Amino acid sequence: MSQERTLSIIKPDAVSKNVVGQIISMFEAKGLKVVAAKMMQLTQEQAEGFYEVHKERPFFNDLVKFMISGPVLVQVLEGDNAIALNREIMGATNPKEAAPGTIRATFASSIDENAVHGSDAPETAKNEISFFFKDAELCPRTR
Ligand code: CMP
Repeated sequence: MSQERTLSIIKPDAVSKNVVGQIISMFEAKGLKVVAAKMMQLTQEQAEGFYEVHKERPFFNDLVKFMISGPVLVQVLEGDNAIALNREIMGATNPKEAAPGTIRATFASSIDENAVHGSDAPETAKNEISFFFKDAELCPRTR
């Protein structure tokens, strides 16, 4: 297994439920480490830019509206196999299909308000991390 970094977003629904700490604990319990984190109120331009890959999808406008409806916590998680592990901990995109004990099964109410986002592949992770963080903002664990 290789050390990887992945981008994680705790979305406005989960922030508003005040479960940021519980969600981070679920990542930490499985060995992922936070190496960067910040709370942000995304602008419409940022949300549209981040989800540009979905711009032709019918849910795009609602997705952007939701992502700017309140603050989000964006973070970089590091660990063995971090990209796939993060996705496993999050559960399926649609919380109705998410395995019990996953973040989405526990905290998400619908496919539109699904608590968390995580990068889906190494190239996406690289691009998504640099969308939000400068290299100097990533803090390698030195101990
Ligand atoms: P996320 O992993 O952040 O990536 C895009 C988001 O679009 C997704 O989570 C869902 O919250 C939202 N979405 C809404 N409808 C759909 C759909 N039919 N398929 C995939 N994603 C959807």
